[in-house]
Amino acid sequence: MRLFLDSANLTQLRPLLKTGVFYGVTTNPVILKESGLTTAELPQFTGAVLQAGAREVYLQAWGRQSEDLYRCGRSLAAIDNRVVVKLPATQAGLSAASRLAAEGVRTCITAVYTPFQALLASAVGAALVAPYLGRINDSGRDGYAIIAKMAQALRRIDSSTEILPASIRSTADLVTLAQEGVRCVTLSTQIAERLFQEPLTLEAALVFEQSIEEVGA
Ligand code: E4P
Repeated sequence: MRLFLDSANLTQLRPLLKTGVFYGVTTNPVILKESGLTTAELPQFTGAVLQAGAREVYLQAWGRQSEDLYRCGRSLAAIDNRVVVKLPATQAGLSAASRLAAEGVRTCITAVYTPFQALLASAVGAALVAPYLGRINDSGRDGYAIIAKMAQALRRIDSSTEILPASIRSTADLVTLAQEGVRCVTLSTQIAERLFQEPLTLEAALVFEQSIEEVGA
């Protein structure tokens, strides 16, 4: 499974990336705002995240018109060939994604809430599509069932578009999603840290250390 970290906070990202468990980092304008990162700092941020061990960095294009999103996406992709450009599943975002994909830029269609939007992502040649699991559940719908439907539909049409669920609220979501054939997921650093906090595992590790100390390391 490819696990991503949904954050722009380098202090929180560095130790998690160092574990080797996480494939990359995903961001969006809200995440940048929360971390106090400016758009001018994106090249430096990308370099730092890659240096810390990320193999892909997802940067989201901004702009109200398709042309703005396209131009922004091109400049983000030019930062590094390991950048994947995120675009919202709006008409303007899909249109920009189509142009970027035709130029060989890897794109991810984001803010996805309904199964047909996964097919739109596939139609424009997006490498990934990002449904918001927690927020779909918040809206009163069954996020797991909706993502399962997306996974089944993409599989049945032999699409190469991968599902990258975001808005994950529990470590258990990883297993539920993987059982549906989802191979990528992006997690907040808070949820990611919980992956290493299984109490019985921590207890067993402590007993291992105590035992070796008793026999003399
Ligand atoms: C995705 O890109 C967002 O960062 C994510 O949906 C936020 O998660 P939340 O819905 O738990 O706030």
